[in-house]
Amino acid sequence: MIDVAFLGSAVRPAGTAVVIDVLRATSTITLALASGYERVLVAGSIDEAKAMRTPERTLAGEVGCARAPGFDLGNSPEETLEPRGSELVLATTNGAPAIVAAAESADEVLVASLLNLGAVVAQLAGREDVLLVCAGTDGRVSMEDVYLAGRISAELEGDRTDAARIAEALAAAYPDPVEALGASGGAVGLRREGLESDIDYCAQVSIVEIVGRLSEMVDGAAMVTATPTASAAAPADNVHS
Ligand code: MLT
Repeated sequence: MIDVAFLGSAVRPAGTAVVIDVLRATSTITLALASGYERVLVAGSIDEAKAMRTPERTLAGEVGCARAPGFDLGNSPEETLEPRGSELVLATTNGAPAIVAAAESADEVLVASLLNLGAVVAQLAGREDVLLVCAGTDGRVSMEDVYLAGRISAELEGDRTDAARIAEALAAAYPDPVEALGASGGAVGLRREGLESDIDYCAQVSIVEIVGRLSEMVDGAAMVTATPTASAAAPADNVHS
């Protein structure tokens, strides 16, 4: 069965939970792994990320879309294109807590974005219990996350819930991802912070061939590593422009 949770707080036990925060947490995790970070440690809060700081780790994250005070990077995917080390610690308002919550209740957790849409669909082939988890924004449903849930659901075979059908209908209403993301609530805060270029960046489809997958929990953080598709070889080959 393919199902959709419209909010991160609505995550429930599932065989595979696919966490979606298109603007921007899951886009950033995906690009970071494709760019060469070996691990992304997804923290449940800004304070938890700070407590994980070591000289070797790069801290990334946002508060109200702006870079968190004292952090090395914000939450713009493009900031991860040149890795500063092997581990990125990421804390964000909605997407990161949704991943940590999914890790507590699903057998397997994958990280999805438009950037790796094709690779996510390929990974999900044959999975029987798929929950597409939309992180949302501050407890409200986010159209950009539901849009991607619909794009993924539409590519999968098998039975689906009405929630999945609703997401597919939304996705079908927007033939262009730039339009869907641009019209979403998630875009408002990015424009306010002068980060509108992130909207276009995150709207790119299938430029990355890896899928982030929860490998283990480390000090309360979800460690996400890359699961390559058959055609992905080295980090340089993982991001197409
Ligand atoms: C979040 O987790 O709420 C988002 O990723 C926010 C953002 O990108 O600024």
